[in-house]
Amino acid sequence: MAPRIAVIGSNMMDLVTYGARMAVPGETLGASDFAIGFGGKGANQAVAAARLGAEVVMVAKVGSDDFGDRQIENFRANGIDVAHVERVEGASSGVASIFVDAHGENAILIVKGANASLLPEDVDAAADVLKRCALILLQNEVPAETVYYAIDFGRAHGIEVLFNPAPADADLDPERIRNATFLVPNETELALLTGLPVGTEEEVEAAARELIKKGVGTVVVTMGSRGALLVEAGETHRVAPFAVQAVDTTGAGDAFIGSFACFYIETGDVKASLAQAARYAALSITRRGAQASYLRAAEFERV
Ligand code: RIB
Repeated sequence: MAPRIAVIGSNMMDLVTYGARMAVPGETLGASDFAIGFGGKGANQAVAAARLGAEVVMVAKVGSDDFGDRQIENFRANGIDVAHVERVEGASSGVASIFVDAHGENAILIVKGANASLLPEDVDAAADVLKRCALILLQNEVPAETVYYAIDFGRAHGIEVLFNPAPADADLDPERIRNATFLVPNETELALLTGLPVGTEEEVEAAARELIKKGVGTVVVTMGSRGALLVEAGETHRVAPFAVQAVDTTGAGDAFIGSFACFYIETGDVKASLAQAARYAALSITRRGAQASYLRAAEFERV
C-alpha cells in the first residue's frame, strides 16, 4: 500500500493576473494574461504528494458554490480521498487573487471563505482515517484552534505532524505548536514565531534552535532561492538550492512541503527527501500556476 498522508487544510481558487509589474495604490495598470487555477496551501501540498504517488486524505471545507464543486472534482482527479471534504452551506469557497510580475514574484490576497469553518470537531470526525496515516500536514489558512488541536491529536496517537505556519500570523501561539514533529517556516514566519532576528544564516539557525529547545522535533527554514536550513537537536544541515529561471513562484513552498512529505514517508531519510523536494519545488517555478506546475512522479524522474 502507498504511504498515507493526511492534509488538514485549505483549498482556494487562484485567480491569477500576469503582468510586467504590480500596480501601486491608486494606479490602474494593464496586464497581459489571466488564469484560474487550483490552489490553497493545503490543497497544493496534498496534490504535490499525490502526484508523486502518496496515498492522500484531505480534511477540508469548500463553499456551496461552483468553485466548491470544482475543488472536490480536482481532489478526485488527483486520486485524493475526499470522504472528509465537506460543503459549508451559504459560504463561499476560498479564493486567492494573485498578481505575478515579470520576474515571477507574486503578491497574494486570500479570502478564506469556507476554510474558516474547518474546526477541531472536523479532526475528530476524521479520527479513524487519520489514525491510519503516517504523517499529517497542516498550514495556517484554517483556524489556529484547528491547527493546535490537530498537532495534539497527532501527538496523542503517535502520528508525525508537519506544520507549515504560512501565511505568517502574528497571533499564532508558539507554545501550542511545540509538539509538531516538523516545523517548516520561511524566514518571516520564523521571526514572528520567535521574536528573534533572522537577517543572517547564523541568526536563522539560532532562532530555529529556540524552537527546538521548546520541544519541536525538526525545524526546516525555507529561504527561497538560497535553499533551506535543516535544524535538529544535534546538527544543522544546509539544503542546497536548485537553480532555475523563475516564471512563477506561486505554490513553490507548497511543492517543497508536499513532495518532502511523500519522499520522507517513503524513505524515512530527512536529508535526502529535502534535497529531492528542493528540486521538485524549483521545477515548479519554471511553469505557471500552483498545482498546474506540479509534476507527476514519472515526469519528475525524467527531468
Ligand atoms: O502558497 C500558494 C498558495 O497561497 C496559492 O495557491 C494561494 O491559493 C494561496 O493560498
